[in-house]
Amino acid sequence: KMLLIYMVLGQGAWGVTYSTQSICALKGSTVEMSCSYTFPSGKVTSTFWYSKDTYKNPVNLIDDPDYTGRVKYHDEKYRHTLTITDLRKSDSAVYKFRFITDGDKYTGAPGVSLSFTDLQVNMTAATVTDGDSVNLTCKTTCTLIGHTYIWYRNKQLLTNQEVSLHLNPVSSEDAGNYSCAVKGLESLLSPEKKFIVTYGPRNTSVSVSPSGEIVEGSSVTLTCSSDANPPVYKYTWYKKTVTSPKASGQSYKITNIRSEDSGEYYCEAQNKYGRLNSFTLSVDVQWTMSPGWPGNASVSPRKSWRKCLGRGKSGHPCLDCCPRDPAPDKRKMMLC
Ligand SMILES: *[C@@H]1O[C@H](CO)[C@@H](O)[C@H](O)[C@H]1NC(C)=O
Ligand SMILES: *[C@@H]1O[C@H](CO)[C@@H](O)[C@H](O)[C@H]1NC(C)=O
Ligand SMILES: *[C@@H]1O[C@H](CO)[C@@H](O)[C@H](O)[C@H]1NC(C)=O
Ligand SMILES: *[C@@H]1O[C@H](CO)[C@@H](O)[C@H](O)[C@H]1NC(C)=O
Ligand SMILES: *[C@@H]1O[C@H](CO)[C@@H](O)[C@H](O)[C@H]1NC(C)=O
Repeated sequence: KMLLIYMVLGQGAWGVTYSTQSICALKGSTVEMSCSYTFPSGKVTSTFWYSKDTYKNPVNLIDDPDYTGRVKYHDEKYRHTLTITDLRKSDSAVYKFRFITDGDKYTGAPGVSLSFTDLQVNMTAATVTDGDSVNLTCKTTCTLIGHTYIWYRNKQLLTNQEVSLHLNPVSSEDAGNYSCAVKGLESLLSPEKKFIVTYGPRNTSVSVSPSGEIVEGSSVTLTCSSDANPPVYKYTWYKKTVTSPKASGQSYKITNIRSEDSGEYYCEAQNKYGRLNSFTLSVDVQWTMSPGWPGNASVSPRKSWRKCLGRGKSGHPCLDCCPRDPAPDKRKMMLC
């Protein structure tokens, strides 16, 4: 019955019109190629597609061992559709449609060219400063159509489903390793591409070691830390009320500390994108008790202090005071 319809309606010149001349595909995916065909008269006895370019004896894809189980034909009136599933790189070829009537045979030129692509993450810039913008594109060597893209950052799925990821403005959380794939073919992930976000110092802070009470004559180390990318290259130490810097370097060691060293300290962290001061850290140097002073045993240095000239040698003046209650009338001057 079908052949009869062809016989009546299949009028015209010999011809095959392909719906597309090139197809871009990913390994493992499924493609469909279709064509319509015309012929002057007669009965169609055979229709098929082939890729092996031995014109004299084209191999019907259905019978081609390279395609076993992966090829389907769909016949309609003057139309023929070929579906190839689970594409392999070796399927990259030109596919032609051929039909045979009781009178003659015909192969449509130029056929459909199937090419493969893999996926690559391409960025407008691989290193971007906080606040700027960047586009990441899932790049192919030929144009894929009808796919939904998926994106990963550090292997975590992102919500974007476009071929490009527009990051504007960029923030430091956007930094990481990016890869892309298409939905349904997640195993064909692109290689990871590293994206770096640079920013000026943040969260500059000071710590002191050892912690706890600082007594005169001991040494303390102040350490500055800051989050920055690239890392901080310059640290500067300041004491409040003193304009010139006290020191440079990430750590500031004060040896043989004196009560005069008491005060508020802070550091400044700097990289090429900016600088940022820490909060101030209060350094409170406790004066030591003179050895042998009668009250020594019962008075904790934390609660009171005594400063003696001449390192407590007898006859030198000493000053007693209570740091928690430093009113001048609570101070006592005495001789050792
Ligand atoms: C990314 O794309 C741009 C413009 O299309 C191109 O100039 C550049 O070479 C590509 N980079 C990579 C790594 O493919
Ligand atoms: C990113 O893509 C958008 C839209 O295509 C474009 O307007 C913008 O200029 C691009 N940005 C960069 C940094 O290339
Ligand atoms: C990104 O990839 C590099 C190696 O290519 C790895 O050293 C690094 O830890 C990765 N980063 C993250 C955040 O996974
Ligand atoms: C600053 O750093 C501390 C310790 O690393 C962290 O707990 C805190 O969340 C950071 N603050 C900001 C604003 O980043
Ligand atoms: C006085 O204090 C010093 C330092 O705290 C301590 O080493 C010393 O043993 C004390 N002397 C007496 C008599 O308790």
